Amino acid sequence: MGTSGKIIKCKAAIAWEAGKSLSIEEVEVAPPKSHEVRVKIIATGICGTDDHVLTGSFPKVDYPVIPGHEGAGIVESIGEGVTCVKPGDKVIPLCLPQCGECSSCLKWNTNCCLKTHLCNPQNLMPDKTSRFTCKGKQIHHFLWISTFSEYTVMPDSTVVRIDDAAPLDKVCLFGCGFSTGYGAAINTAQVTPGSTCAVFGLGGVGLSVVMGCQAAGASRIIGIDINKEKFGKAKELGATECLDPRDYEKPIQEVLIEMTGHGVDYAFEVVGCLDTLTAALASCHMGCGVCVMVGVPPTDSRLSFDPLLLFTGRTLKGSFIGGWKMKDSIPQLVSSYMEEELKTDVLITHTLSFSEISEGFNLLRSGKSVRIVLLF
Ligand code: APR
Ligand code: ZN
Ligand code: ZN
Repeated sequence: MGTSGKIIKCKAAIAWEAGKSLSIEEVEVAPPKSHEVRVKIIATGICGTDDHVLTGSFPKVDYPVIPGHEGAGIVESIGEGVTCVKPGDKVIPLCLPQCGECSSCLKWNTNCCLKTHLCNPQNLMPDKTSRFTCKGKQIHHFLWISTFSEYTVMPDSTVVRIDDAAPLDKVCLFGCGFSTGYGAAINTAQVTPGSTCAVFGLGGVGLSVVMGCQAAGASRIIGIDINKEKFGKAKELGATECLDPRDYEKPIQEVLIEMTGHGVDYAFEVVGCLDTLTAALASCHMGCGVCVMVGVPPTDSRLSFDPLLLFTGRTLKGSFIGGWKMKDSIPQLVSSYMEEELKTDVLITHTLSFSEISEGFNLLRSGKSVRIVLLF
């Protein structure tokens, strides 16, 4: 039937090398092999991490590469042995696999599947070959899912079926940004009712943290950003106060400690910067405050801070895609969206056509967008 078993020619955005902008090219997408799935991407968000791929600051990427990892689409065909999805299913590609077999997948308390890119680069399919070619050259995959291609192939551990009625141009955010931020508050920090939270960075991920803190019943949610244009939406989503560190002569952690008496119960770093991470930790309540690292740190960076901050009982935790075991959780999150319990549409400030991808990246860098969704 149709395209199954055949090479498909379609449009994709390729980063030929680090430091160059994306170029839209015609690529050839080979059929899925055993335990692989070929998906027609309908919509994809642009995430800060994709921008890190373009600049060369995301670890372990091989170029040329097709980035993109916040997509939603429809299964076009499946390889031998695939049982979790079938052609025609609506799906979300998963930027963090859930293989179901490794020691992390078998533990209840971590989602860090050992198949993740941060253990073993996901630049080629598990059999170490690529399904993408362009102008006779092999093109690399990104996180095994490369959603900046109209058709893309992924292992069956990195795709999950969602509700047939889900609007793909909206629920693509569950593939990364929303789930990452919301889960950091709900799963990693486990924010308690009545608590005080500080969220450093009010981009799409930080605003999703604000939504998680509010859903968990925090009574005070302090948003911190150097761009005041982010404050309106943060307040709409539950921030009770917003601060610009540049308005104060003293370090922001001192401001937060004064405002709250003894520091916050939970602080979230959602910028991807070491200075804000240290400030977030230092703004936590002595003895019990929990600092959650959500932003991706600069490649090869090293942290340095006063160890007494930890000795006196504060906790520093990392959160990886919000702590969700993605295969188990993403369909449920989409169901909550369909039941109007999760109102994520407000995060989408721009919807563009795929051919406008470069304008999308310019918008992202200008700070004038929250989430940009591209439609094929
Ligand atoms: N203090 C406070 N806020 C800051 C600072 C700072 N020193 N520097 C930048 N910001 C703000 C920006 O103004 C912006 O509003 O942090 C926000 C970051 O938002 P985005 O760039 O939209 O990034 P987002 O997609 O939300 O991701 C945030 O999480 O997933 C990771 O790689 C991603 O590390 C990134 C982080
Ligand atoms: Zn992302
Ligand atoms: Zn696993």
